[in-house]
Amino acid sequence: SLPQRVRLVEVGPRDGLQNEKLPISVADKVRLVDDLSAAGLSYIEVGSFVSPKWVPQMAGSAEVFAQIQRKPGVTYAALTPNLQGFTAALEAGVQEVAVFAAASESFSQKNINCSIAESLQRFAPLMDAARQKGIRVRGYVSCVLGCPYEGDIAPAQVAQVARELLAMGCYEISLGDTIGVGTPGKTRQLIDVVAQDIPRERLAGHFHDTYGQALANIYASLLEGVAVFDSSVAGLGGCPYARGASGNVASEDVIFMLQGLGIETGVDLEQLFAAGEHICALLGRQNGSRVAQALAAA
Ligand code: HMG
Ligand code: MG
Repeated sequence: SLPQRVRLVEVGPRDGLQNEKLPISVADKVRLVDDLSAAGLSYIEVGSFVSPKWVPQMAGSAEVFAQIQRKPGVTYAALTPNLQGFTAALEAGVQEVAVFAAASESFSQKNINCSIAESLQRFAPLMDAARQKGIRVRGYVSCVLGCPYEGDIAPAQVAQVARELLAMGCYEISLGDTIGVGTPGKTRQLIDVVAQDIPRERLAGHFHDTYGQALANIYASLLEGVAVFDSSVAGLGGCPYARGASGNVASEDVIFMLQGLGIETGVDLEQLFAAGEHICALLGRQNGSRVAQALAAA
């Protein structure tokens, strides 16, 4: 049976924008975040506290946090790769952070310049600091259904990294199909393996839509009892260290599917559609959401 409620993690302002080549102004990012909260999204990943040399687009994240209109009940989160990023995030008033590891050694090196084991070591002082400050930490695992450098990834490898993140204190593990190569059968197998060690309530799905499989993978995950999904308004995005990876599954498309399944999300689809149209116009991009394309044509 399907879950009755699904929690959506809106990653558009972070995963969606991090790969954009031209600088986007702080005001435009703030507008996007505020539009998303107004549409009813209750969890928004606003930015990253990473090296500006590595991901220039996220350099203004502290300013974005300073200017957003915080709506009660909404969690505004950020990615933090190490203690330095965590400290900067706290100064900026971030309420919740996420650490990110990979199930592939090669991807870990390209993305965060260290091995998987080293990345976990770097997270340790961050986790300690977060515990002291009472800040919740979400954990990402990238390349769970395939790696741009290594190809297939064993579910057991994903499970191991996920287990370690959970043991370090992450409250939830988001399983990232970074390059969107997963298919529903593989997704179900992966969750079956990971769920041997981790309760399903602690798992989230993060599907990029490169091969058009993301919605099917979300449905497969729902059947497996996963009820938290990351998505990006207008399907914005891609990862700078995963060439050719397209955006996350579009939030509009996920919500349309969930509405059809009778699953509650609390998001106003029309308002979300408008937010997506606005940011796409700014970026000079076609809206990547099929639902948005249909609404625009209707
Ligand atoms: P490094 O070069 O190995 O780090 O980078 P370092 O500790 O040796 O420091 C080198 C320089 O970086 C120093 O500056 C530090 O101050 C600075 P310098 O002395 O040269 O001027 N530095 C920082 N600056 C700002 N904030 C920080 C920070 N840390 C060090 N937190 C590092 C290691 C992780 C920092 C780097 O590799 C990095 O920033 N990588 C960016 C990774 C990233 O943002 N990737 C995209 C997000 S992950 C993703 O998209 C996947 C996901 O969506 C899930 C999925 O789809 O699979 C989450
Ligand atoms: Mg991603």
